[in-house]
Amino acid sequence: MMTPSDLARCFDRIFGAEIDTKIQTDKRRLFFAPGRVNLIGEHTDYNGGHVLPCALSLGTRALAAPRADRRCRVASLNLPGEGVAEFSLDAAWDVAETGWSRYPRSVFSIFERHGLSLARGMDILYYGDLPAGAGLSSSASIEVLTGYVARELGGLEISRVYLALLAQEAENERVGVQCGIMDQFAVAMGKRDRAILLDCGALKHRYCALSLPGARLIITNSNKPHSLAASKYNSRRRECEQALAALRRSLNIRALCEIDAATFERHARRIDDGVIRRRARHVVSENQRVLEAAAFLENGDLEGFGGLMYASHASMRDDFAISCPEMDLLVALASSVPGVYGSRMTGGGFGGCTVSLVREEAVDEFRETLERGYRSQTGYAPSFYLCETSDGAMELPVRDS
Ligand code: GLA
Repeated sequence: MMTPSDLARCFDRIFGAEIDTKIQTDKRRLFFAPGRVNLIGEHTDYNGGHVLPCALSLGTRALAAPRADRRCRVASLNLPGEGVAEFSLDAAWDVAETGWSRYPRSVFSIFERHGLSLARGMDILYYGDLPAGAGLSSSASIEVLTGYVARELGGLEISRVYLALLAQEAENERVGVQCGIMDQFAVAMGKRDRAILLDCGALKHRYCALSLPGARLIITNSNKPHSLAASKYNSRRRECEQALAALRRSLNIRALCEIDAATFERHARRIDDGVIRRRARHVVSENQRVLEAAAFLENGDLEGFGGLMYASHASMRDDFAISCPEMDLLVALASSVPGVYGSRMTGGGFGGCTVSLVREEAVDEFRETLERGYRSQTGYAPSFYLCETSDGAMELPVRDS
């Protein structure tokens, strides 16, 4: 566990030598932004549908200090090899930027584009305990955190929802992933002990109490490195656009999730290509599952909720084709344990984590079964996180507690 004073020492070591009088130690501030786990509703966000994520206590922290000039320096303790990236607030976006620093830098560039001018630059040191690239929104966590730091240090009046939209724009246009709004929204707007039922089409949300009597949510990281996830993600998005264009020949809709499953089935033959038809079927059915799942959650029906988690996984595997053998294995192993209500891959797909709803007394057996079965069949060791929820991006005390 890295304490605020550990971070401060690292800050001095990394930035100190060059900054001398530019940074006043007493102006340093500490911030946190969570990651998120999506309970159900995958690839529905950019199709105008619903999602049900919650913000995690795992996330990213940033120790930040204003500078006297218009330069920014950013560094991550998770990636010491990347060193310190330095740039001016006035510099044009560098399309060649490929390293980690493009995540924070992209946000500054989008702020400038929207006329959200900062009078001065800043130095920011990041440290995260979220596994990167595991479907828990480590990138959205960094992006929203950067926006939050810039807002606070720059004295800008920006709502949390606008912050989420700016961070999404940074990811879409600078990082190059055509993601929807779910991750950034959850990171900015999360509430402890609540899931967020978000209608991504209308950008309307409400919080659902995450009361799981006698049960726990467990995140299992497959630790399988996934390659090309971003390009495969973008290709799914294009396939959804093709499905929409085909359906619009007979339906007056702007997004796939404007129709229910029955309407979709009546019009499905409009989509000639069987693969594209299956993509749309996943999206439409998944959207319906989210609404049903939220109702089950609110009624404390964990059996009902878990059943929809399994159905969601099957739909991602068979219709949307974003699962992989490792994810299917983790879900199959979970389903073999008595006391598991449901399990599914979470996040954008092609690897990453599953989320499972498990009776408290079955947690040990769940871990042992997945550990043994997954390791022996894949050679990878899984990691487990008992899910703790958090509020959205926030400032933390800079002194050790
Ligand atoms: C990623 C994206 C989100 C969402 C999910 C899939 O996490 O960033 O916008 O599309 O994948 O549900």
